[in-house]
Formats: sequence, C-alpha cells, structure tokens
Amino acid sequence: MPIAITGATGLLGTRLLEILAERHDSVILLSRPGGIPARERIVRYLRASGRPEEAIAAIAARLRTVVVELERPMLGLTQQRFRALADELDEIWHCAASIDLNSDPQRLHLTNTVGTRRIIELAEAGARRPMLHHVSSIGVAGRKPVGRIYEADLDDSYGFTTRYEESKFQAEVAVREWSARTGRPAVVHRPSVLVTDQRPHPHLPTHPLLTGMQLTRKLVNTLAMTGESRERLVVRIPGDPHALINMLPVEEAARLMVEVADRPPVSRVDTYHIVHPRDVQVSLIADVFEELFEDVLPITWRFVPSAPQQPAPWESMVYQTMGTFMPFMSYRRRFDDLGLRHLGLTGDFTPPVDRDYLMRTFGSERYTLTA
Ligand SMILES: NC(=O)c1ccc[n+]([C@@H]2O[C@H](COP(=O)([O-])OP(=O)(O)OC[C@H]3O[C@@H](n4cnc5c(N)ncnc54)[C@H](OP(=O)(O)O)[C@@H]3O)[C@@H](O)[C@H]2O)c1
Repeated sequence: MPIAITGATGLLGTRLLEILAERHDSVILLSRPGGIPARERIVRYLRASGRPEEAIAAIAARLRTVVVELERPMLGLTQQRFRALADELDEIWHCAASIDLNSDPQRLHLTNTVGTRRIIELAEAGARRPMLHHVSSIGVAGRKPVGRIYEADLDDSYGFTTRYEESKFQAEVAVREWSARTGRPAVVHRPSVLVTDQRPHPHLPTHPLLTGMQLTRKLVNTLAMTGESRERLVVRIPGDPHALINMLPVEEAARLMVEVADRPPVSRVDTYHIVHPRDVQVSLIADVFEELFEDVLPITWRFVPSAPQQPAPWESMVYQTMGTFMPFMSYRRRFDDLGLRHLGLTGDFTPPVDRDYLMRTFGSERYTLTA
C-alpha cells in the first residue's frame, strides 16, 4: 500500500524520500500548489546529488503527487478525494513545516500547527489506520538553557526562543492529544540542527547553517563596502564559548528515522531525539567562520557574558542580522538520545560533525564571497 509524505522537497524530506522510495512501491507526495511540480523537483534533486539516471527513473516511477493545501480542512480536497486518499495509506510521514525562524508568527502557526492538525485528520480518517510519523524538532524544549533534556519531556514552562519552536511544540501537543483521545499510535522524531556537507547547488534545498553563513557573507560584503575592512574587526557575541549546539548530517537523520520506523512500537507515542551523540561547541563554529573570512575581512568573534552597552557600528549590524540566532550562543543543554542508543543506532560510529566537516559544509561559500 502507498505511503504519503509531506515536505518531500525540503532538506530532510528529499533524503527521507530517497530511502522510503527504495522500501515502498508507491509514495504519494503531498505537495502544495504552484511552482515546479514536486516530482520534477525531486528528480532535479536526485540528479544534483549525482544519482545514476537508472536509479532516478526507478525512484520517480514510484512517486505520485497529490496537491494539497496543508492548512485547509480536508487538505483543500473534496470529501470524496480526501477519504479516498486517507483510505489507501498505511503510513504518513509529516515532514512539511515552515522553518524560517523570522517568519510571521501567523504563518508559522498555520503551516506548522494547523498543518499538523490537518495531517492528523487524514491519519484518523484512514480505514487502514495509517501510522503517523511526525517530524518535530528538539526546539520543542524551548528556552531551557542547561541540563539534560529527555525524550519524555514536553513542557512549555521555559518559554520559547522563537515562534517557530512554539509552533512545533503545539504541533507535537496536538499529536499526543490525538493519540491519547483515539488510542492511535504515532512516532515523533525530534531532529537537531540538520546540516550537510554536500556542495550547495540550485537544485539542493538549503540548510539553516548555510543560511547563517549567507547572512554573514552579506554582512561582510557590506562591511567591506563601507570601508570597515581596513583592519581586523572584533565582534563581541553575547554568549558562552562552551555553549553547545547539536548538529546532525541530514542524511544520517533520515537514515535514523527510517530505521526507527522499522522497529516495533514500544509505547503509544514513541519519541526519539534524532541527534548527534556529540555536541558542537559554538566556539568551533566561530573559529571556522574566522578562518573562512580571514582573507577577505579578518574578524575575531569574541564571546562576552552580556550584550555590550555601546556596540560598534559593525556589531550593531551583526546583532540586527543574526539576532534570532544569538540566544543559541548561550545554551549548555544536552539532548538525551536513549531511544536511539537503546536501538543501537547511534554511538562512536556516528560520522563526526567536527572542524573538517564544518569546513566542507561552508568551504564552497568562501570563494563566492564578493560575488
Ligand atoms: N532543518 C533543520 O535543521 C530542522 C531541525 C529540526 C527539525 N526540523 C523539522 O524537519 C522538517 C523538515 O524541515 P526541512 O529542514 O526539510 O525544511 P525545508 O527544507 O524548509 O522544507 C520544508 C518542506 O515543507 C514544505 N512546506 C513548507 N510550507 C508548506 C506549506 N504551507 N504547505 C505545504 N508544504 C509546505 C516545503 O515545500 P516547498 O518545497 O514547496 O517550499 C518543503 O518541502 C520540519 O518539520 C522541520 O520543523 C528541521
């Protein structure tokens, strides 16, 4: 029986789809209206990733697209089409979301929270009681700054760093409430920051760190143009050099999620932190950025306990451009990965996200700096 996936054209969805299409004869892409059709975008992604044409054709032959409007009742379909779609499914992967941290809160709510409720309705309507795989985020932990965060934790008492996190929290709550009300099982996957060292390409989805890098590049170009580039700039970053960010290669995240899906459920809502066993210190990211821009505009990123009272003009630009990311420069929390460890899926063998990895991730940006 077919499975359905939302968000298949995105950073994670493309990687998930690649694996899922090898395991299932028929995959329905639930994609939004307009633009280049989802199936075509997937084919372009597979080509840009260097997949042989034969393999691409085999994957494409298994894909079918149903255009839906995620936020609308019955996904914007007629009752008949909604029911027919629901009834043919064994599994639904809900991966679509707006991940733009600066997006309008109403948009985030509609896409991430309301959209999840609509997918829950699809799962509930299905005669075959399809298993729901909900892609959440470690961001549901909100602003908890230190300590260990467990997979069983889901509380909003710390508040949220961004409205994106809040919308994902509410989406996860909706999944849990539905499961409690109906007794239906679900799997919640909570990935950390997803990265890739694949060279950027117009047909490859972008990723959050690359967005951060592109912001920095714009900033450096602006500073270079305004003549601030004559000597080494010091930028004071309110934060802690030992703060931790968990980053996981997106290809590994997709692999782990599909592995998890293969295992028999252990509870009604199995929840997994899809995280790297080792966190990255923010000072390493600062070092990598320093090295990348050294030839163009030498910058020292210096961590300071609180925001300077009188920031230099270039610091104000940094705070304005990167403001949303600043709180993450202070958190020293760890995301427990007992679920993955219990299944033997993570450990010392997990590919490292280290200096070399980050240089590969960002390295190609260095040469296009003033383009
Ligand atoms: N990236 C991360 O670091 C990260 C970390 C933790 C959790 N996650 C979660 O992982 C999932 C995938 O994220 P991603 O990084 O792959 O994001 P992405 O690259 O931005 O892809 C988002 C996907 O969702 C679709 N989408 C967005 N708004 C939609 C709407 N209103 N209606 C229908 N489809 C819509 C997009 O379609 P179009 O291609 O048509 O725009 C795209 O396929 C999300 O649930 C996200 O919250 C991501």
